[in-house]
Amino acid sequence: MSIPESLNKEHLHLHEVLKRAVKEEGALGEAARALMDVLHPHFEKEQEIALPPLGMLTLSDDVPKGDIEGVIALTDRFRQELPRMLEEHVAITERLEALSREARKVEKAEYSDFAESLRHHAKIEEEVMYPASLLVGSYLRLWRSGKKS
Ligand SMILES: [Fe+2]
Ligand SMILES: [Fe+2]
Repeated sequence: MSIPESLNKEHLHLHEVLKRAVKEEGALGEAARALMDVLHPHFEKEQEIALPPLGMLTLSDDVPKGDIEGVIALTDRFRQELPRMLEEHVAITERLEALSREARKVEKAEYSDFAESLRHHAKIEEEVMYPASLLVGSYLRLWRSGKKS
């Protein structure tokens, strides 16, 4: 069960930029560290439970392959965890505002652009990735029950 490469790369890239921002001095660095405190555990949780089910998506085959039971169990955990993860998005967005403000003050466009990218990333997760991941779990359940009957 593996996370689609495009999503993995996006997380890695966002994380790399924030790691640079964390080393900045003054209020900008502080805002970046405050963001990292909430973003890092959030990303880890996504890598563990929210995104791996998306590795089951395919354009070529209706018959799922791989660890069906494992993915169903994962999407159950994700469904339970979802309200907290949405709350984390709110906390992340608030801290992003602060980072963006500080970046503009010292004219570091790299970090205000990063803030915009991360905001967009969270929105795509809420509108597309998270629902798609849950849908994979629902589909696998249906598929499994059809197979048994
Ligand atoms: Fe993410
Ligand atoms: Fe997220």
